[in-house]
Amino acid sequence: MSVIETIHQHRSIRKYKPDPIPDELLDEILSAGIRASSSGNMQAFSIVVTRKRKLREQLYKAHNDQEMVLEAPLLLTFCADFHRMRQWLSISQAPDNFDNFMGFMVAAIDAILVSQNVALAAESQGLGICYLGSTLANCDQVGLLLKLPVNVVPVVGFTLGYPDENPALRDRLPLEGLVHHETYQDYRDEQIKEIYREREIKGWDRYMSYPRVRQMIIDAGVDNLAKVYTVVKYTRETHGELSHKILNYLHEQDFMN
Ligand SMILES: Cc1cc2nc3c(=O)[nH]c(=O)nc-3n(C[C@H](O)[C@H](O)[C@H](O)COP(=O)(O)O)c2cc1C
Repeated sequence: MSVIETIHQHRSIRKYKPDPIPDELLDEILSAGIRASSSGNMQAFSIVVTRKRKLREQLYKAHNDQEMVLEAPLLLTFCADFHRMRQWLSISQAPDNFDNFMGFMVAAIDAILVSQNVALAAESQGLGICYLGSTLANCDQVGLLLKLPVNVVPVVGFTLGYPDENPALRDRLPLEGLVHHETYQDYRDEQIKEIYREREIKGWDRYMSYPRVRQMIIDAGVDNLAKVYTVVKYTRETHGELSHKILNYLHEQDFMN
């Protein structure tokens, strides 16, 4: 498949065969991944490969009990990492200017670009992935389990393995709803309705097809997809709590000076 075909074939995989991923294949995928662009070519990221079942069992909790963490043969965690670079600066008697929010963002962007490169490389080789939002949401627990030193923060992660399911492609908002030419063109309500028209039907049907989510939607008296997002899935309370937790962890990890 061409790169563009691989991209168009992407779907998140949440069920995996138990088959292990050969070391050579993993190295090939990771080597392709680290070719991603990087701010100043500093490569301010680290990738943690977790294969051991025992450690995955511990991470399972931190990843909100998502079964795929146990099922997939391995887990990749992409971390914003200025720890290594700071050590190099120190032994080179160079000043250290990266223990701040800008440093975190530079490193987080590097880590995220690498992760998506790795994801595409993996998919091009017949493997499947599914990102885990819990990597950032529970970055403190993940960081503890992976023994991350100061100045390292997990930002994204995904399960990786041979797919044991073939889900349908999920819809995307139409291109014209996402792209602005020359300057940002703000939306009229009618345009917003048109952009979300198909999503409102497909997204609603999808959530209602999961018995547990369906019950939550009914219990909350929710009657449209927009409300599913902010009344059921991503509430003000949880997003507020998570924001504080992540900011505290950034302080602890010496990124907020
Ligand atoms: C940062 C990020 C976090 C995600 N976290 C989760 C997750 O915790 N669990 C999950 O099942 N899917 C997760 N996903 C996958 C999305 O649900 C999925 O990409 C989206 O629904 C589109 O579906 P597709 O990837 O199959 O096209 C995550 C995706 C991203 C980019």
